[in-house]
Amino acid sequence: MPSLDWKNLGFNYIKTKYNIRCYYRNGKWGETNVTDSENITMHMAATCLHYGQECFEGLKAFRGKDEKVRIFRLDENAKRLKNSAREICMPEVPEDLFRRAVIRAVELNKDFVPPYESGASLYIRPFLIGTGEKVGLQPSDEYLFMVFVNPVGPYFKDGFKPIDLLIDQDKDRAAPLGVGHVKVGGNYAATLQSLGGAHKKGYDSVLYLDPKEKKYIDECGPANFFAIKDDIYITPESKSILPSITNKSLITIAEDLGMEIQKRKVEFSELAHFDEVGACGTAAIIGPVKKIVDEKSGKVFEYCKDGNPGPISTKLYNKLRAIQYGDEEDEYGWVTIVD
Ligand code: PLP
Ligand code: COI
Repeated sequence: MPSLDWKNLGFNYIKTKYNIRCYYRNGKWGETNVTDSENITMHMAATCLHYGQECFEGLKAFRGKDEKVRIFRLDENAKRLKNSAREICMPEVPEDLFRRAVIRAVELNKDFVPPYESGASLYIRPFLIGTGEKVGLQPSDEYLFMVFVNPVGPYFKDGFKPIDLLIDQDKDRAAPLGVGHVKVGGNYAATLQSLGGAHKKGYDSVLYLDPKEKKYIDECGPANFFAIKDDIYITPESKSILPSITNKSLITIAEDLGMEIQKRKVEFSELAHFDEVGACGTAAIIGPVKKIVDEKSGKVFEYCKDGNPGPISTKLYNKLRAIQYGDEEDEYGWVTIVD
């Protein structure tokens, strides 16, 4: 095992041993190759560099107490990458190719899956780029699908600890009928300015309102939004947010805990009435929200008043983590075990 400070990993790039690559040329996917190079050589007019033909995924593998390595909801990420690719005129990565490449990347870098006790995990980053040269605006003729992995600790600096969000009404992460519902690189570039501004002011992340009316909650830059009110799990329905696999999993867990689920438009004004609020995603897991500040109206909404995550967020977090690490039975068939 590499000698890393497993308990204190942040969410930063760490070199591992191998990555996986597969080219799409002449209308078909080729051989899958393994390399130890961290670099990609491509034409300077590649469409990913100029016209944003790039989409990606993020999923995790966890080492259990039993030393088994479990990949969480791999098939959901495979499907989402297909949707993203279609949306920006790239060829879909077949689910079987995605699955094999992800499993192989984890197997080959198994030493980098953090030990159970560390509470860390192996982040898996599959991505698809247009590598063919085009100067006129049109889709590439050649594509590269890759998977690399990276051991990570918590995305928000203290792990499952309350976070603060800033509502930025001067920037949108997505357009009403744009590509906010898929995982394309440009959506993230669009959040960098507001995220940087929020960090400078001491916030952990940005919460975006819907880009059309600025009346409803959309999502955070890297995570979906959920709220708890009287045993009801509430999460926004919106055309401009990414369908989060973590959120989908929390909905299933909440339902099985007997909670009512409301997936609907969530008005900004409702923030005043929620018992608990959270940001959820693969990287973020659950960021229990302590404070939301809307600078425009001067409104401040506070939760976690005793300084701790709320009881329902805690229950959901514990159940999700227990399935991911193999502490509890995978009753939903969510994990793929890598031998
Ligand atoms: N929303 C955005 C914009 C994201 O980047 C992510 C992260 O992938 C999420 C939500 C959470 O999605 P998931 O739970 O599938 O990681
Ligand atoms: C993830 O949660 O997988 C994401 O892609 C968020 C990213 C900004 C780290």
